[in-house]
Amino acid sequence: MSAKRALITGVTGQDGSYLARLLLKKGYEVHGVKRRSSSFNTGRIEDIYEDPHDPDPQMHLHFGDVTDATNIIRVVQEVQPHEVYNLAAQSHVQVSFETPEYTANADALGALRLLEAVRILKLEGHTRFFQASTSEMFGMVQETPQTETTPFYPRSPYAVAKLYAHWITVNYREAYNMHAACGIMFNHESPVRGETFVTRKITRGVAAIALGLADRLYLGNLDAQRDWGHAKEYARGMWMMLQQDVPQDFVLATGQVTSVRDFTRYVFEDAGIEIEFRGEGEDEKGYCTKTGKCLVEIDPRYFRPTEVDFLLGDASKAKAELGWEAETPVRELAREMLEADMASMKDGASWRTTRSRGSASMSPAMAEWLARRWCAGWETRIVKSSRHRARSTCANRRRFGGGFRKNARMR
Ligand code: NAP
Ligand code: GDD
Repeated sequence: MSAKRALITGVTGQDGSYLARLLLKKGYEVHGVKRRSSSFNTGRIEDIYEDPHDPDPQMHLHFGDVTDATNIIRVVQEVQPHEVYNLAAQSHVQVSFETPEYTANADALGALRLLEAVRILKLEGHTRFFQASTSEMFGMVQETPQTETTPFYPRSPYAVAKLYAHWITVNYREAYNMHAACGIMFNHESPVRGETFVTRKITRGVAAIALGLADRLYLGNLDAQRDWGHAKEYARGMWMMLQQDVPQDFVLATGQVTSVRDFTRYVFEDAGIEIEFRGEGEDEKGYCTKTGKCLVEIDPRYFRPTEVDFLLGDASKAKAELGWEAETPVRELAREMLEADMASMKDGASWRTTRSRGSASMSPAMAEWLARRWCAGWETRIVKSSRHRARSTCANRRRFGGGFRKNARMR
């Protein structure tokens, strides 16, 4: 029997990389859509990438973009997938306030384009569809904990776009009898989480402080509370949803909530640094209890025009009907992320050369080339930073080879 074919949009992202691994392990032929980029964007899937010249490769990449309907139709036609996982999105909530139109195009209409491609190609009876919906759709929460029946109240262009994608998926299921399911997923993180989401920003920042590469971490709203789980478990939940006879939507969540302040405290604690928060509002700061040094400061630039203060999911339905349950407690997740960041930063070269994980089998020439690219990224941000402009990159470049700068400001 020939292998099942899966098509993953967003395969180069955090979840895409976990899902692709899982499906390959299950014997799927995996096709991923990656965007054209002027630099490599496949860092998270380097170890599972197969050269098309290899005999019988199981992993295939297609250039594509969910904002391009013709491209999407062609890729779906070529692959004839049994399962489509739509993970592609401009997934950063704060960035969506700056790029609302693009976010709507990719996150809302992207889902529509895929669903239409399946329909136009008359694959409704052949192709199952998964939509990556989000707990952000609950926004200003109407009840706690949030379940599949909790009313939505989105609070950002990202959440509004995702709400469209959610409902259009439900509509295609009902209108065209498609096997389409939405996973309403609460925050999930991992060592390959994008560096500008708060958990990874904290684990990277704390690792840099613990190793003497930075002296302060700037954050936004410390009061925000999230239900944080491990991404690899959420990828398993996505697959489980598409194995059901009857398609339905499911909440995936841990049922535990943690504030940004507590997450920060845990990560410092795991790095052997005890911190204490003092002060109110924008003047609140985190101090090392041993040295009295200020290690965490608020930067109001990271506040959002409209914030989602609190998210807590109830995944009872997923447990009862899929047998899915979150397994990794937030403290274990934080420790795993910190350890990965510490490990890659301890090896100065890999800290400068990798986006997310250890540099593994990278050649010295490639590492050198990537190091230069990484440095350039930081320099760009330094130019934008008013307070630290004076301290030009030169000093840091001398000290760290340009790989990091003091007072790292990461969003
Ligand atoms: P991520 O790391 O930001 O990955 C997003 C992926 O989408 C990347 O591969 C990105 O490509 C790709 N992408 C962005 N715009 C695209 C476009 N126009 N066309 C094609 N590909 C595009 O996000 P994630 O954390 O893995 O999340 C996966 C999905 O789940 C997203 O839809 C997200 O909104 C949703 N979700 C995530 C969470 C969470 O906590 N992680 C919770 C609920 C829902 P590049 O690599 O080239 O940028
Ligand atoms: N990014 C960031 N940076 N967030 C900060 C910071 C900071 O410096 N300081 C405080 N926060 C707060 C944010 O205001 C938010 O309340 C919370 O930390 C979490 O922010 P993010 O990690 O950026 O994630 P998110 O909850 O906004 O969105 C993520 O989860 C959604 C699921 O609920 C993303 O992965 C979305 O794509 C996903 O749908």
